[in-house]
Amino acid sequence: MIVYFSGTGNSRYAASLLAHRLGDDLLDGGAWMKEGKRADLTSDKPWVFVAPTYAWQLPRVFDAFLRQGRFAGSREAWFVMTCGDDIGNPEKELKDLCRAMGLTFRGVLGVVMPENYITLFRAPEKEEAAQIIAAAHPVLEEGARLIARGEPFPQRKKGFLDPVKSGFVNRTFYPLFVKDKAFRVTEDCNGCGLCEKLCPLNNIAMEEKRPLWKGNCTQCMACICGCPKEAIEYGRRSRGKTRYWCPEYKA
Ligand SMILES: Cc1cc2nc3c(=O)[nH]c(=O)nc-3n(C[C@H](O)[C@H](O)[C@H](O)COP(=O)(O)O)c2cc1C
Repeated sequence: MIVYFSGTGNSRYAASLLAHRLGDDLLDGGAWMKEGKRADLTSDKPWVFVAPTYAWQLPRVFDAFLRQGRFAGSREAWFVMTCGDDIGNPEKELKDLCRAMGLTFRGVLGVVMPENYITLFRAPEKEEAAQIIAAAHPVLEEGARLIARGEPFPQRKKGFLDPVKSGFVNRTFYPLFVKDKAFRVTEDCNGCGLCEKLCPLNNIAMEEKRPLWKGNCTQCMACICGCPKEAIEYGRRSRGKTRYWCPEYKA
């Protein structure tokens, strides 16, 4: 079973492609989180967990969702992390997670997809994004082939700084950057409430037809990138930047 978390659709796209290739079921972990449901799942097919990279690790909310769940049947787990650039060195934490879940770690595949982190960086324009997604296809196809054959993902070459990025920087990143205080709406907001629906953590409440962020944000970028009016800003940092949303995967 393919279980995924996705803010702006990249990981959903990757998970859908894998589900199609493997002829397996797809489960939206974010939707389950939103409903406050714990995973209680059984599958005889390999467990494949797909998520974005947040500060060179699995998003903490997804890690917590998996830790709290129950995964019966198959005992092997493959991880696919979509990223804007690189996934760092998350293997140790993923192995710990697998131990906690009673699963055997079969490796992690980093898949470069369009950058979505617009409160810090820039997202690519449509055409460039399409090229990046096209380049991700062979990586995902090879990943699906390995999973189908029961083979581990290959060992990845690690950069000199990767342990620092996935370790110290990740730990520093959360308290420093993962906040929602700077989110606000402009006068373009029409009060449609889509941001509230898109937030996987139920962190947005609509009050007098305006969104209010409640302090439990994971910075998935769903609200700011999914707003049809581009009416959400993050202080000044998001001003004038392209909003990114991945197209649906079509088999
Ligand atoms: C909070 C946050 C942190 C991120 N950290 C990294 C990172 O450490 N390395 C990287 O290459 N991309 C990073 N990204 C980019 C995303 O991992 C990438 O765009 C991903 O494919 C988005 O997936 P999604 O559309 O499924 O949410 C980050 C994005 C966000 C929002």
